[in-house]
Amino acid sequence: MTDAPPPLLDVRGLTAAFGRAAPVVRDISFHVAPGEAVGFVGESGSGKSVTARAVLRLAPEGSPLVWGGQILYGGQDLLRLDEHAMRGIRGRRIAMVFQDPMSSLNPVMTVGAQIDDMLMQHMGLSRRAARRRTVDLLGLVGIRDPAMRADDHPHQFSGGMRQRVLIAIAVSCEPDLLIADEPTTALDVTVQAQILRLLMRLRRELGMALMLISHDFGVIAGMVERVHVMQGGEIVETGDVDALFAAPRHPYTRALLDAVPRLDARR
Ligand SMILES: Nc1ncnc2c1ncn2[C@@H]1O[C@H](COP(=O)(O)OP(=O)(O)O)[C@@H](O)[C@H]1O
Ligand SMILES: [Mg+2]
Repeated sequence: MTDAPPPLLDVRGLTAAFGRAAPVVRDISFHVAPGEAVGFVGESGSGKSVTARAVLRLAPEGSPLVWGGQILYGGQDLLRLDEHAMRGIRGRRIAMVFQDPMSSLNPVMTVGAQIDDMLMQHMGLSRRAARRRTVDLLGLVGIRDPAMRADDHPHQFSGGMRQRVLIAIAVSCEPDLLIADEPTTALDVTVQAQILRLLMRLRRELGMALMLISHDFGVIAGMVERVHVMQGGEIVETGDVDALFAAPRHPYTRALLDAVPRLDARR
């Protein structure tokens, strides 16, 4: 235990509330080691997205979120950084992929131009260098003919391909941590599996840590070693995925597991 690497992210006693309403996330603590994949699972409304957004200090538009506790990243508390310093972290050191790829892309810009802009802004690349990197990134996430596809608009891509584009944007600055919040929920099952495989490959190739969030235990299992089970804004159980599968302690965890079709049940 003593020679475990220091965590990349160390969240302590995180609390979040919308304005003066009762907290929707209460006293959550967890950590993510460099390069580690950690899962968060829980039913809709259990506070997964609010927790994810807290790490980037991103409130949903028009909804003031008030945070408490500590989010330690590289020794500094993100909840106490000024907005300017936070902008240096968001998208660069810590990036996020959301559930709905359409609402995160600009429908009137080509996907290539959107990635170029990100690279020019965050990495200070020239337009020409940015385009080279954009084409590389589109290839990296498995888009064929990337140089040509860069000139297409989001509506010319399927849902799965749009999610690949968003993943390309998210990894464009080679973040230390990628937060994927229900990245496959809007996709059909075959495409889900492809996107999950892509996330695993990128994590390995880029050496980044991953926070994978889903309401579906089936998505989390096989992707992460450690999982946190969330209910009503709290972490109710934490453990090794295999151990949780074998012997869930919390009745809520058992209920989530019962919702997953299991191979042994089909025999
Ligand atoms: N923009 C918002 N304004 C007010 N309450 C919200 C908002 N977004 C989420 N909530 C509430 O916060 C709680 C946690 O939501 P969320 O983190 O989105 O859950 P999950 O991602 O697990 O489905 C829920 O009770 C939800 O109703
Ligand atoms: Mg959510």
